[in-house]
Amino acid sequence: TETQYEHILISRPASGVGQITLNRPKALNALSSALFLELNAALEKFDGDDDVRALVLTGSERAFAAGADIKEMKDKDYANVYKNKFLENWSDMTSIRKPVIAAVSGYALGGGCELALMCDIILASPTAVFGQPEINLGVIPGGGGTQRLARAIGKSRTMELTLTGRNFSAEEAAAWGVVSRIEEDVVGAAVKLAEQIASKSAIAVQAGKESVNAAYEGTLHEGLKTERRLFHALFATKDQKEGMGAFAEKRKPTWSHS
Ligand code: HXC
Repeated sequence: TETQYEHILISRPASGVGQITLNRPKALNALSSALFLELNAALEKFDGDDDVRALVLTGSERAFAAGADIKEMKDKDYANVYKNKFLENWSDMTSIRKPVIAAVSGYALGGGCELALMCDIILASPTAVFGQPEINLGVIPGGGGTQRLARAIGKSRTMELTLTGRNFSAEEAAAWGVVSRIEEDVVGAAVKLAEQIASKSAIAVQAGKESVNAAYEGTLHEGLKTERRLFHALFATKDQKEGMGAFAEKRKPTWSHS
């Protein structure tokens, strides 16, 4: 039986797949502190669950998430947000070891766009609308938007989006490489992708995620070293013996995830 939450829904739509659905429909899934605490708790729980090897994060048809909760933020002052590390726990989810696939329909604005960018893979429905509209609220993105977008789509486009606050479409997101692809049934496609990943060796998947993230987060030199070290380390796993042995014996591998 799954833990019950107030602002999110938990499910297991396929073998090895855990799904988290943001569920504050009246506020277009605005990311309140309470919602984010639940999201982090649910991610942490799935990350520690051996029956789950890939995760899907989604919202509703109308909104993946329309941003941080503006009504919660509007009366806060500097001393308060600084002392209390306001929203700093958002980055907790970047230490989840299992792959997280964002399935984005409708609005992914501000913190909603940043939340998608913190996931490992993004699939978008044709209705997806991305953007960093914070400039229209007199602030700037605070959940990694300027940094992750700049890495993904370059300085000029990121600068334009950040300084005008204009939205961008699913087509633009796909053309720029923000999302892998556009899918009509975006949740179905994300679950299928997660199921495919969950059928691999979990330890190799984890190493693959860590290695790709090294490319995103550091220098080429450090990234290449990280990749080589992880590649070598996998020769200490049962799944490397199983995977290569199965190939030589012309049979399908059975992963022990160890
Ligand atoms: C709080 C929000 C909200 C938000 C929508 N709502 N977005 N509440 N925070 N970010 C609420 C509305 O107030 C409204 O509540 C209900 O959801 C439905 O929204 P409407 O505006 O009536 O819907 P619609 O006219 O269809 O417009 C949709 C929208 C618009 C274009 C997405 O809601 C909008 O512009 N939202 C704000 C988008 C935004 O600026 N996001 C960035 C936030 S700053 P009621 O009670 O009136 O029905 C941010 C900083 C990140 O994210 C920092 C990260 C660390």
